[in-house]
Amino acid sequence: MKKILFVASEGVPFIKTGGLADVVGSLPKCIDKEYFDVRVMIPKYSCMSEEIKERMTLKTYFYMDFNWKNEYVGILETMQDGITYYFIDNESMFTGFKPYGDNVLDEITKFAYFSKAALSALPLIDFRPDVIHCHDWQTGLVPVYLKERFQGNDFFRGMKSVMTIHNLKFQGKWDVKAVKSITGLPDYFFTPDKIEAYKDANLLKGGMVYADVITTVSDTYAEEIKTAFYGEGLDGLLRAREQDLRGIVNGIDYEEFNPDTDKYIEHNYNAVNFRKEKIKNKRALQAELGLEQDDKKMMIGIVSRLTDQKGFDLIHYMMEEICQDAVQLVILGTGEEQYENMFRHYDWKYNNKVSANIYYSEAMSHKVYAACDAFLMPSLFEPCGLSQLMSLRYGTVPIVRETGGLKDTVEPYNEYENTGTGFSFANYNAHEMLTTIRYAEHIYYNRKREWNKIVDRGMATDFSWHVSAKKYQEMYDWLIG
Ligand code: ADP
Ligand code: GLC
Repeated sequence: MKKILFVASEGVPFIKTGGLADVVGSLPKCIDKEYFDVRVMIPKYSCMSEEIKERMTLKTYFYMDFNWKNEYVGILETMQDGITYYFIDNESMFTGFKPYGDNVLDEITKFAYFSKAALSALPLIDFRPDVIHCHDWQTGLVPVYLKERFQGNDFFRGMKSVMTIHNLKFQGKWDVKAVKSITGLPDYFFTPDKIEAYKDANLLKGGMVYADVITTVSDTYAEEIKTAFYGEGLDGLLRAREQDLRGIVNGIDYEEFNPDTDKYIEHNYNAVNFRKEKIKNKRALQAELGLEQDDKKMMIGIVSRLTDQKGFDLIHYMMEEICQDAVQLVILGTGEEQYENMFRHYDWKYNNKVSANIYYSEAMSHKVYAACDAFLMPSLFEPCGLSQLMSLRYGTVPIVRETGGLKDTVEPYNEYENTGTGFSFANYNAHEMLTTIRYAEHIYYNRKREWNKIVDRGMATDFSWHVSAKKYQEMYDWLIG
């Protein structure tokens, strides 16, 4: 039995701020249990729900030298869908109302602690992974500590690591001197060929230098990040490690996201009966959100973190124009204040057409995926994107920009060949976006049969984990040898 440990900062159903949690919560379940024992390690945050915390039991605890102190490390444990989850517990590290705070130094400190604790815990929990699979900058120090500090130790010798980049934008950067002091790593590491980048210490870079393999969450993003535009300053390193870099597209949990059984939505439906049944969800959502009750009105949804990454400056620029059209817009999201307020403003101005829901709700997100006719996601960059996959699964036609995973998962509609699962545009340009939205409106209003065939094709795509989980398995096999 090959042993794999996922180390990450979030995971469904325990804690979620974005797609990373969906991946960490769903991929391990789809790895073949006959050959692999996959376990997951995440922090225990004080903001987790009481119900979740009550399920955890104490496995063991120890004290660890960290940042000039002797820090407590508790290891809690629970089972979820046959997967063992470990939680690293230290109340002073993982406090606050949200998993991530705004103070960069605090964030670096807590995830450096987490990375070191994750490795230090292994000999005590009697689990020696063959591969440690790390996710994003928060776990970037795991391969670093593994390669150097733990290498002299028999338990860790030969252990491999994988660094998966879900978002290259976030790297965990801070002043070298401070990071040296916090992590206890010697001078040796703080050079530009190791964890230093542009004079700062860079945790993600450390992971990328020391991991045996680097992966990211779509083929196109794996190519894009080797260029200066998408590379966030690390494109040189990615080009240098090209042979060790691969793209494996994300899937989604097809049981959790299934319009036929979804408990959050008013009316269940499937690929056979969506023509009659899906609309009932639109009616229900129009009523719930106080939008005009009109079956025919094209409803466009957005479920997203409200940040520049997702293309909200394009939407902002064209919002007034879009509101002149015969559409309804439903927004569910939180994030940058300028975008929250922008949507609130249009909700006030076009009250029966625009509904701005500035909060986080799993239940509401499912309702939006189920109710809308189309889903808008004009991202500036998108490592993979899961929302468009959820939309496809719910027969909601994605309108996206051709970047990263959006390019790999949404096939543009071709009216001459009757192919395609959505609408897309190439350049990061507001007029191109508007033209594409209006083209989608045209097909929706004037060629409804064609529209429904787009939905048919979208619902027939398979973005469950089943193909991609195999690719991870092959990679683990290859690494373990
Ligand atoms: P990212 O990870 O960059 O935020 P993804 O598309 O990969 O983007 O994943 C976003 C996930 O977060 C999806 O599961 C989406 O439904 C969910 N999500 C985003 N905002 C909200 C919100 N306000 N309420 C509920 N779910 C949300
Ligand atoms: C990141 C990316 C998103 C991706 C998710 C899961 O948050 O922004 O594109 O789908 O990670 O891999």
